[in-house]
Amino acid sequence: MIGAKPRRILITGGNSGLGLALAQKLARRHSLLLSGRKSQTEVAEILPPGAGYVVADHGDPEMSARALVRGVRDFGWDGLDNAVLNAGTGFVAVGGVDSTDAIRQTLDVNLLAVMLQAQALYPLLRKSSGTLSLIGSVAHKGSASIPAYAASKAGLHGLARALRSEWSGDISVQVLHPGPAKTDMHDKAGYDPGRMRALFLAPDDVAAMMASAIAARRSPVTLSWVKYLNGGAYTGRRL
Ligand SMILES: NC(=O)c1ccc[n+]([C@@H]2O[C@H](COP(=O)([O-])OP(=O)(O)OC[C@H]3O[C@@H](n4cnc5c(N)ncnc54)[C@H](OP(=O)(O)O)[C@@H]3O)[C@@H](O)[C@H]2O)c1
Repeated sequence: MIGAKPRRILITGGNSGLGLALAQKLARRHSLLLSGRKSQTEVAEILPPGAGYVVADHGDPEMSARALVRGVRDFGWDGLDNAVLNAGTGFVAVGGVDSTDAIRQTLDVNLLAVMLQAQALYPLLRKSSGTLSLIGSVAHKGSASIPAYAASKAGLHGLARALRSEWSGDISVQVLHPGPAKTDMHDKAGYDPGRMRALFLAPDDVAAMMASAIAARRSPVTLSWVKYLNGGAYTGRRL
């Protein structure tokens, strides 16, 4: 059974929201390397004990991919069991029109950086017959007010399908599509969900569904209320 032995797990965007909730869930059993754009000093107090940390700003996609590979090696790992490429950003398009800057930033951080990171991490994952997990969104099907974000997540969906086929037999590739969760992402994006926020899932519950979906290696997987109400946060395989 997957999860029987400690795994070497890299999580991008591991200093906040879903990435941090997933890290906290896995920290007791597994070895973790987290990444973010903030400095080590800024995140030191919130990281789970024993977790490593590497600075990788997706705003520079090429450099972020190189930083992650270097971070894995510097942490003393010669392979990876899981890479969870979770960091993401988004901006509300005022009047339905994204600024050029917002489009570039969203596609760089959510799509281009992830593509380059996936390529760069492939040899490390192949060595361990590992799993590459891309964190998409239910918005990949299209969502009003966040067109660039929706496009970036649709891109991840296509990327995961292509790599899952291309790298079949070497590593598992999957895309997970969370529904709305109570993280800081909406504030950062300039979106006020108002009373709807009460209906968003708790990060801890989404993280439990993420861990279970990662262990099962299926793709694509939607992590929404439907899955939650079917026991998605409490049952299923554990990573
Ligand atoms: N929350 C939701 O409702 C929801 C729904 C569907 C999908 N998702 C996806 O879930 C993932 C995690 O989001 P979240 O809700 O946990 O939001 P979050 O709390 O804002 O976490 C996002 C993470 O990505 C990092 N990040 C943003 N821009 C970056 C950059 N340029 N370079 C490196 N790291 C960067 C953030 O770093 P900082 O702390 O420095 O900002 C943070 O660690 C994202 O891919 C998001 O699209 C979220």
